[in-house]
Amino acid sequence: MSILIKNGHIVTAATNYIADIYIEGEQILAIGKNLSNKADKTIDATGKLVFPGGIDPHVHLDMPFMGTSSSDDYTTGTRAALFGGTTMVIDFILQTQGDTLSNALKEWQGRSIGKAISDYSYHMAVTDFNDNVAEEVVRFIENEGITSFKTFMAYKGALMIDDGQMVRLMKVVKKHGGLVTVHATNGDVIDSLIAKNRAENKLSPLYHYLSQPEVTESEASGRFTDMLDYTKCPGYIVHMTCEGALNAVRKASQRNQKVFVETCTQYLTLDASLYEREDGAKWVMSPPLREKKDQTALWSGINQGLIQVVGTDHCPFTWEQKQMGKDDFSKIPNGHPAIEHRMELLFSEGVHKGRISMNKFVEVTSTNAAKIFGMHPRKGTIGIGTDADIVIFDPKKEHTLSVESHHMNADYSSYEGFNVTGKTETVILRGKVAIENNKCHLDPGYGQFIKRGKTSLTI
Ligand code: URP
Ligand code: ZN
Ligand code: ZN
Repeated sequence: MSILIKNGHIVTAATNYIADIYIEGEQILAIGKNLSNKADKTIDATGKLVFPGGIDPHVHLDMPFMGTSSSDDYTTGTRAALFGGTTMVIDFILQTQGDTLSNALKEWQGRSIGKAISDYSYHMAVTDFNDNVAEEVVRFIENEGITSFKTFMAYKGALMIDDGQMVRLMKVVKKHGGLVTVHATNGDVIDSLIAKNRAENKLSPLYHYLSQPEVTESEASGRFTDMLDYTKCPGYIVHMTCEGALNAVRKASQRNQKVFVETCTQYLTLDASLYEREDGAKWVMSPPLREKKDQTALWSGINQGLIQVVGTDHCPFTWEQKQMGKDDFSKIPNGHPAIEHRMELLFSEGVHKGRISMNKFVEVTSTNAAKIFGMHPRKGTIGIGTDADIVIFDPKKEHTLSVESHHMNADYSSYEGFNVTGKTETVILRGKVAIENNKCHLDPGYGQFIKRGKTSLTI
């Protein structure tokens, strides 16, 4: 199969130009003006933007969590991702405390192999560290192509590790060339605030927000970066929400540390006033949505290069699942549906509104994730010999986000009625048309597990 994309406005993290792209098999074979290659299919991209396929490095598909499972599986979740222009996701394997990483890997392979439509990889979440796990970490880096290890400083009793385990994990990961990633909030403080609010019969979704004040995130982010400094391990903070946490990273950057930061579309576009609504449970996620001043800090953090990645933390639940916590905010499954809207929301709120450049958009939606997570240049850019993962995007098309039109397996939208400018039109994944005319043309099983190497982004 060969495809010729004519006259598109190609945008990478480094440059913009108008040219044709010729794809043969799974890769880009030529880029140039007026290419004359004969192709099985020609796409006229005049007036359209052509981006590298998006990479969302923070999703939870079919994940057992808080007594239920996230409602998108590998088929529905990766299909929705493709509709939005994301051609690869990185999901989280969760080690069961007391069990091995290898058993958890097998469980997640059972969920994904033969079911994924987009490409995918896994981060390995280490929830119980010991000497046997240390050996498995080395094997994961050297043999499995899984080079990032997720840690939780919250969710005590289920996912959290203590600081002693954290430092020991960092030392092993540093020695073997991996990356430690973190959910950085202070679990003990949050648990005591939850207990206090419940004891006072303060049970509405607003108290989810009030149980996780900014200090719980800034303190943990500072503690994490201090431990990275001590061990000299590279690190990555997921789903950063607030000014205080960003300042902790600013301090680490003054020590010339290698700490990467991800924020998510919801923290840039929504705020905590939503928790006062009757249906506030829709936005119960951890960390919670914050204030307008935090949105400003995050947008400027992107432009200052302190934040390198925008993900989604896609962890959807149906409204019925959210009702598990109708009488107690602490029982509402944490997370929301987002995988489909990342690229369009960030383009509209970021590029269209003049907050970030188009090159920055490509950097934070694709290129930096590919570099940080060891897949560049195969993924994350448009160049000769790279995987032909391409998004053809109409920058002028206005539309409204809604549960009526989204493809995620969630019976509500966190962005119902939100107007955006810019729409993903055609998506190509490893040389095959994935999305065209608002239809998905690939079957479950097309998505490949992508083995990853070492971080190549320098900051
Ligand atoms: O609320 C969230 N974020 N749910 C998913 C788990 C996590 O902490 O990322
Ligand atoms: Zn988290
Ligand atoms: Zn998450």
